[in-house]
Amino acid sequence: MIFLHSKRSVYACSIILTIIVVYNFWNYNPKQKYPFHPISTESPIQISTDVVILSTAAPILQPKQKNAKVIVTPSTITESNQTPTVVHLAVVLSLSKQASHIAEFYLLYESWRFLQNFPPLSQQVVVDLIVFCEQPSCHQLPSACIPLSYKKTVDMIATCFHEILDEEIVQKWNDYLYMTSIEFMLTKEYREATVDYDWILRVDQDAILSPGLLIGLTGKHPIKLYPMQFGGIGHGNEFTKNRLRNIAKKLGYNHSGIHDLCSAWLVNPKDAVKIANLTTIIGRHFLKNEFGAHVP
Ligand SMILES: *[C@@H]1O[C@H](CO)[C@@H](O)[C@H](O)[C@H]1NC(C)=O
Ligand SMILES: *[C@@H]1O[C@H](CO)[C@@H](O)[C@H](O)[C@H]1NC(C)=O
Repeated sequence: MIFLHSKRSVYACSIILTIIVVYNFWNYNPKQKYPFHPISTESPIQISTDVVILSTAAPILQPKQKNAKVIVTPSTITESNQTPTVVHLAVVLSLSKQASHIAEFYLLYESWRFLQNFPPLSQQVVVDLIVFCEQPSCHQLPSACIPLSYKKTVDMIATCFHEILDEEIVQKWNDYLYMTSIEFMLTKEYREATVDYDWILRVDQDAILSPGLLIGLTGKHPIKLYPMQFGGIGHGNEFTKNRLRNIAKKLGYNHSGIHDLCSAWLVNPKDAVKIANLTTIIGRHFLKNEFGAHVP
């Protein structure tokens, strides 16, 4: 899989997603006034370097921490006693009404359909596509993308679902629209629809899925999956990184020393919601108090 970042998403990446890198969210000093959402496992996370490439030829998400513990399955699988024979993945994204974004989504959509041509792997991994579309872009989706409300359980047929992105979310982030691509993960509709998946792959609309994903998710790749993995690309400088570490301290978060995370996450459904929540909370703080023309 190759995540091609447009200028817009690289920008979004550098501002929003550093946030996640910046904070070690499972270490929180409860005396501080800022809320914290513990991540369920004391998991090492996996950060890939530069542009993320998942393909049959390239190793899936190079681990950076060589000594980190390798865990094959996400916590949701480990907790249930039987090993599931089928892995359920939801690729989730929001789609703005911009024509270029809709065009990019079509490429993602075709790459998602392409995944279904790889039996037997495509029978072992069922990949759904869930898109939260800002109106009127919902009308421009492929007609095969059915309303999310039709989804009852995870099943064996890969399906594309859509849900209208709440206008309130769009309004809330009118000063920083990129955050709508994360905040949709906090809606009741999103949370209810994704709770039963084994994995969530959060992407931007300009991502392309490669069949290499199926190899990784069936554990057939030599590099095993961590409980969480993130895309990464170098951005920001030492000044900003130091500043972020200091802000983390000020807010009562323990900084884990990880920078340069991007907007593609492969995590379990519960962690996806926690990370999205934390990102929007800290993102709002950044916008109001730390960065921007209005901040002295
Ligand atoms: C945060 O880091 C400090 C210093 O390393 C450590 O003493 C503290 O226990 C950490 N907090 C939590 C909640 O883990
Ligand atoms: C997000 O975090 C806040 C503050 O901790 C919490 O009250 C809220 O329930 C969380 N929302 C979700 C969707 O998890």
